Amino acid sequence: MLKQYSLKLPHAVYGGDDAMEQITDILKTNGAKKVAIFTDKGIEKAGLFALPEAAVKASGVDYYVLDELPAEPSYEAVQKLIDEFKRSGADFIVACGGGSVMDAAKLASVLVTDDYGVKELLDTPGMAKKCVPIILIPTTAGTGAEVTPNAIVAVPERELKVGIVNENMIADYVILDARMIKNLPRPIAAATGVDALAHCIECFTGNKANPFSDIYALEGLDLILNNIEKTCDDPEAMEEKNRMQIAAYYGGLAITASGTTAVHALSYPLGGKYHIAHGVSNAILLAPVMRFNSEDPEVKKRLALAYDRCCHGEKNCETVEEKCAWMIRRIEEIVEHLDIPKSLKSFGVPEEDLEGLVQAGMQVQRLLTNNRRLVTEADARALYLEIM
Ligand SMILES: NC(=O)c1ccc[n+]([C@@H]2O[C@H](COP(=O)([O-])OP(=O)(O)OC[C@H]3O[C@@H](n4cnc5c(N)ncnc54)[C@H](O)[C@@H]3O)[C@@H](O)[C@H]2O)c1
Ligand SMILES: [Zn+2]
Repeated sequence: MLKQYSLKLPHAVYGGDDAMEQITDILKTNGAKKVAIFTDKGIEKAGLFALPEAAVKASGVDYYVLDELPAEPSYEAVQKLIDEFKRSGADFIVACGGGSVMDAAKLASVLVTDDYGVKELLDTPGMAKKCVPIILIPTTAGTGAEVTPNAIVAVPERELKVGIVNENMIADYVILDARMIKNLPRPIAAATGVDALAHCIECFTGNKANPFSDIYALEGLDLILNNIEKTCDDPEAMEEKNRMQIAAYYGGLAITASGTTAVHALSYPLGGKYHIAHGVSNAILLAPVMRFNSEDPEVKKRLALAYDRCCHGEKNCETVEEKCAWMIRRIEEIVEHLDIPKSLKSFGVPEEDLEGLVQAGMQVQRLLTNNRRLVTEADARALYLEIM
């Protein structure tokens, strides 16, 4: 039997020089009357808001700025912003920020209703309908949230992060402008870059991998493995940054066509309970989970295929085992080079919390079932213990 697969995409994606200026035409063509611009204080402080703002201004439409959003917000914080958005009466959304801003804006685009809110979508994500068109401009590279149908929010009472998935949240337009990530602080560039790496490698080795996701996951992986360090180390490396931005977008496409696996599943409680940044918790888990997964013959074979595609230096590995070990070593090398913590030690997670973590992680069956190797409770315990 042939596996089913599909890929739902934004209407248009603009990249390269002057991509930002497309906003003006998009707003005019769509007859927008009032634009809500979603962003956050970090973006404003970094001076990044001026570019999209100028493009919106040039269209002559009225606009309203919503910037009161913390990073990795709870569903209540997102709902508060959406309530303000509803009061603004805007009929178009432009969102400029990292995953946190884009996810909040995506939820707003399907929640111009008083019948239900973000809380209700946690249990019944399918009921949301498209209300307002949206342009997404990522400022990290990144979550790939500019292209996925997912929005992730923290749920404090469950000490977990939860992904809401609804294809109505796929953006209408995406702008990829490398200037937005030029001065991204190194720790944020590092963590968000490894998040994109995790998206590509999880999608390529997961149960839901298919011809569409494979294309984007492999190309994304190649771009990331060969550009991430330079991108993070050198503010002037615009070619490399542009490649990372495209790779993050491809990672998002791979998620849209397939899905992430045990790395993201086990990472959700670390974000939900200890507020460890999404990219950092994934980076801590990525090599241990991939080593665990590589016991599965198909995962091993796929990691070897990834080596063939992504290793452009001297190719010293010959066997599948050697190639697979190279890939896992390369992940460790990247995390080490980028100074991302390799364990939970610096986050004050006490060992007595282990059982709680295991129980919370095992709840994320939506992603665990995508993992090619079965993750039992005992496996989750061993993996959390390994990173303690
Ligand atoms: N929807 C999806 O498909 C998807 C996928 C992965 C992750 N996520 C979610 O995305 C969120 C994380 O997003 P993120 O990693 O992009 O970070 P973020 O949006 O949380 O931003 C982190 C910090 O970086 C700052 N920042 C962002 N861009 C900047 C720039 N160019 N210059 C200076 N500062 C900048 C922000 O102001 C913020 O303080 C999490 O909630 C995660 O769960 C969503
Ligand atoms: Zn992610």
